[in-house]
Formats: sequence, structure tokens, C-alpha cells
Amino acid sequence: MLRSTVSRFASRGTRVVTQRFASTKTLKETLQEVIPGKQEQLKQLKSEHSQTVIGDVKVENIIGGMRGLKSMLWESSVLDPNEGIRFHGLSIPDCQKQLPAAPGGKEIIAESMFWLLLTGNIPTEAETRQLSRELAEKGDLPTYVEKLIDGLSPSMHPMTQLGIGVAALNHDSVFQKAYETGIKKSDYWTYTLEDCLTLIARLPALAARIYRNVYKYGAAAPPISKDLDLVGNYTALMGYGADKDLTEYLRLYISIHGDHEGGNASAHTAHLVGSTLADPYLAYSAALFALAGPLHGLANQEVLRWQLAMQKELGDNITHQDIKDYLWKTLKSGQVVPGYGHGVLRKSDPRFIALQEFCDSRPELLASPTIQLVKKTYEVAPGVLTEHGKTKNPWPNVDATSGCVLYHYGLTEFKYYTVIFGVSRALGALTQLVWARALGLPLERPKSVSMDALQDLINKGA
Ligand SMILES: CC(C)(COP(=O)(O)OP(=O)(O)OC[C@H]1O[C@@H](n2cnc3c(N)ncnc32)[C@H](O)[C@@H]1OP(=O)(O)O)[C@@H](O)C(=O)NCCC(=O)NCCS
Repeated sequence: MLRSTVSRFASRGTRVVTQRFASTKTLKETLQEVIPGKQEQLKQLKSEHSQTVIGDVKVENIIGGMRGLKSMLWESSVLDPNEGIRFHGLSIPDCQKQLPAAPGGKEIIAESMFWLLLTGNIPTEAETRQLSRELAEKGDLPTYVEKLIDGLSPSMHPMTQLGIGVAALNHDSVFQKAYETGIKKSDYWTYTLEDCLTLIARLPALAARIYRNVYKYGAAAPPISKDLDLVGNYTALMGYGADKDLTEYLRLYISIHGDHEGGNASAHTAHLVGSTLADPYLAYSAALFALAGPLHGLANQEVLRWQLAMQKELGDNITHQDIKDYLWKTLKSGQVVPGYGHGVLRKSDPRFIALQEFCDSRPELLASPTIQLVKKTYEVAPGVLTEHGKTKNPWPNVDATSGCVLYHYGLTEFKYYTVIFGVSRALGALTQLVWARALGLPLERPKSVSMDALQDLINKGA
């Protein structure tokens, strides 16, 4: 049985009617139930433990990009150097077993992952479908954003276009409008949630429009289907709707890549900018520009570029020794081996393993020369990187394979790959923005020191 709810704010004054399964709670209602407990937990931490020391600050933390410094709250996931990511305590295999998939599909979908990240609960099938429908109903881009994106040069990097589009969507921010009229601090989260849902809903149409403009000469996209999940619509809008395997792959990739705790550059940027009470669109567009760096989100395009160059140079029947020699050539030329190493992880990334398992379950992927090369490189690279002796983590990260699978499926425009990452990472970064508002987290303002000031501190401590 369905009933209808009308959202309080909708873009440009239009009323968005959302159909609702009577027996299910909405995401907002579920969150409303969870928030008081978390608020209480924070209150207690503040009142009982504000002065408790949990670690030291070393000089290496300050000059080493704050590695390892525990200095921010992030509710949805925690990254263990050896185990990898856990979302509210659940590993990727746990999530694969428990989170609802799309009708007829097997892989986790963005909606069920987002529900878990935001509430800490596993959504039911009906709750997941309801959220899919809500997002599909909100998914159309406003005309002014379509015009803006269509006016950009196709030679502009797709990530730059995505950042511009997301920032422009703040024209419709309900948080910003409500803030201007004066709202209670305790209500900030409700408006933030509404913006976050609208932003997630619109990302597929925005990202797909960029894809079509840059690579398909602006070909028209089909309408958003109310019966498809977010990623199902995304692949359809890009023009790959008929490819069920690619859609399933993207569902998995976008879900498990959606959050990687808070200290990585894009997540931290979203949190920092959000802490100024900038609306979610502005905060997430800033995050996207951090994601666009080659040491972060751009790595998946770099992996593919590197792999294809290796394939071209080495030809067919590539041996382990050939790969070893190529790895050394890369390292000796002063470059990093893309897809290997990590700021926190010290073992193979479980996201890499999940994507490899996806490949292992499909004979046509196993037969792909590109996927075979990923596997062979995995068998050789950790040894070479260990012998090289620089990186703290010689094991692969998720990007060692993510782009190569897309390439196999015919999505060969690798400059676009970081955009897909950008669609994915919104799940975690926007979750934290809602929690930052619900918990009333303050403006972020760490203390910096000059080298002279640091020396003074060292002298005083000695
Ligand atoms: C991810 C990454 C940026 C982490 O950087 P980090 O936290 O500084 O890593 P480390 O502490 O292990 O770095 C120590 C040294 O090893 C080097 N190193 C790290 N990963 C390396 C790799 N894959 N190949 C070669 N050298 C590497 C670093 O450049 C650094 O060298 P330096 O002392 O000359 O500056 C780094 O591993 C890297 O550049 N990887 C390749 C790009 C990539 O895959 N990015 C995606 C991340 S999800």
C-alpha cells in the first residue's frame, strides 16, 4: 500500500510528491530515532572526557601531512590499517551478505549503503525501494544547470565540470534559504538532509550529462526511470542501460567506494568546508576538487594509463619477469606505481579484493587481457615495491583494478573515471555533513606552526 508525502521545500517552488510504502519508515524518520542516542553519547564524551589524553602529537605528524593524527569525528566508517574499511562495524563481505540489492541483481546498491552509513541500520527491501523511488523523483537537473554544463568546453576535465555543476546546484539549497530566514540550530540537520538527498539524487543526471557532452557529442539521454535504483539510472543515462553486468559492477563499486573514513583529502575537505555552515552543495564541490588530484581520485585513470602503456610496450604473452622489469623502469624514472600504496592501509585493500572477486565470478572478465594483467601485476608488484623499500604499503588499493574493469566493459574514457568516484564518495561525505549538523559539531580550526615555532616547541619540550 502506498501513501503520498509532500516535501517541504522543492526546487523552484515545485512540490515533489513522494510515494511511500505505508509499512516502512522513511530515511528521515529512521534518522530521527537514531540522533538522540548519538547526541547523548557526544554530550557524555564532552562532559566526562574532554581532558582525557588519547595520544601524542609528534613532529612527524606535523610535517608528515597529519598521518595517523586522531583529530576528527567521522561516524559512518572506520579504517583499520590491516582489515580495511568497516561501515558501522560491518566489513565489505558483511555488507555484501546483508544489504539489499537491486531487483534482479546481486550487488549492494548505493541506496542500501547510504541508509547504513547514515543510520547505522540495515534497511529492509521495502525501505531501500522507497529510497530509490524518492531519489529517482528528485533526480532531474534544473534547466539552469543543464545550460551551464552544456556551455562548458568539452575539453575541460570532466571532474572540473562536475565540481562546477555541484556548486551551481546550491542555487536550490534549502539549508541556505532556511538559514537566511533564521532557523534553530537543532533543525539544521533536517534541511541539510534534504539538500544531501537532492544532491545524491541529481548526481547521476549531472555526471551522465557531462559524459554525453564530452564523449557522445551531447546525445540526448533517456528520462530518469522511477523504477530503477540510482546506479541503474546512472548507467542508463550514460547510455549503458542495456549492459546489466556493467550496471552490477558500478553498483558494487559505487557502494563499497562510498566512504573511507574522514581523513582522506576529499572527505576531510567536505567536512572542513561544511564546518563553516556552507551548504552541502558547496562543501561537496570543494571535496570533488580534492578528489581530482592524482594522488587521490585521479589514481584510477592513472592506473589504466600506466597499464595500457605497459601492455603496448610489452605486447602479447606478458610474463611476470616482463612486469617486474616494467615496474622497476617506472620506479627508476622517479614515478609512483599507481594503484599501490595507501595513506592508512597496510594490506591489500578489501575493496580491491571485492572487485577482483567480481571479476573471478565472470568468465568473460577472466579472459580479458587487461584484467589478466591486473592479476599478474598483483602477483609481482608487492615484491618489487618491498624491495624498492620506500612505500609503507606495497599492496594494491582499490584503484589498481577499478578502472580496468570499466575499460573492459567499453567505458574506455578514463578521464571520466574519477567522476564515477565522485558520484560514489558523496554517500559518505554527505552522511557526515548531516551528522555534523545533528551533533552541532564546531567550525574546524586546527593550530598550525611555523618551522621556527616548531623548533621552539621542541626546545621547550627537550
Ligand atoms: C596513496 C599514496 C599517495 C599514499 O602516500 P603516502 O601516505 O605518502 O605513502 P607512504 O608513506 O608509503 O610514502 C612513503 C614513500 O613511498 C613512496 N611511495 C608510496 N607509494 C608508492 C608507490 N605506489 N610507488 C612508488 N613509491 C611509492 C612515496 O612517494 C614516498 O616517497 P618519498 O619519501 O620520496 O616522498 C601513495 O602510496 C601513492 O602515491 N600511491 C600511488 C597513487 C595511488 O594509487 N593513489 C590512490 C590511493 S587510494
